[in-house]
Amino acid sequence: MGCLDHPRQGVPNVRTVAVMNEKGGSGKTTTTISLAAVLAERGFRILVVDLDPQASASLWLGRGREPGLYRAIAEKRDLEPFVRATAVAGLDIIAGSRELAAVDDLRGRIGIQTALKRALARLHVRWDIVLIDCPPNLGLLSVNALAAADEVVGRQNLGRRRSPINSGQGGRVEMRRHAGRVTWHTEMHRTDP
Ligand SMILES: Nc1ncnc2c1ncn2[C@@H]1O[C@H](COP(=O)(O)OP(=O)(O)OP(=O)(O)O)[C@@H](O)[C@H]1O
Ligand SMILES: [Mg+2]
Repeated sequence: MGCLDHPRQGVPNVRTVAVMNEKGGSGKTTTTISLAAVLAERGFRILVVDLDPQASASLWLGRGREPGLYRAIAEKRDLEPFVRATAVAGLDIIAGSRELAAVDDLRGRIGIQTALKRALARLHVRWDIVLIDCPPNLGLLSVNALAAADEVVGRQNLGRRRSPINSGQGGRVEMRRHAGRVTWHTEMHRTDP
């Protein structure tokens, strides 16, 4: 992600970034945590939102599972009591829990796609960047992440035929696309030799 060399001082608006890929084990949580830790070390105030029922980011950051996110999305409860500090200075987290898997059962409820966005908007904002670690599917949780995000970080594997990447670029290219309100940062890899 560009433009992150210096912390923004006293800027009230927060930048919300979803780390998303429907493929399991594709590095979403590793990317979220690494990015969060590096940015916190550089002086940014970071909030990680663990939207994955597996709660891997919460465990990596030394927090247990907590039901706050599920309650905020399903029952409109406040997230504020579930903001936890981590061992990394400047890095907070709202943990995930297995209950999050039940959010897909709420499909059809009016406004459910934007429940996370509204819950985040009710927080007392003291972060520069919110990083959302998404589950490995395009269900209602990922839809909520998209609705809440200003930007999406993802990774895409392409076969040779479909790939715009040539060998001169080392089989890898970074793209930035604007899709309506959201900016997509995609790192594309050629998967075949
Ligand atoms: N850049 C990388 N290079 C090598 N290994 C990596 C890299 N990124 C992640 N991994 C490894 O890949 C595995 C899956 O990573 P990770 O848990 O971050 O994926 P994920 O997309 O969050 O998975 P899930 O979909 O289950 O949430 C882990 O063992 C991790 O250590
Ligand atoms: Mg993960």
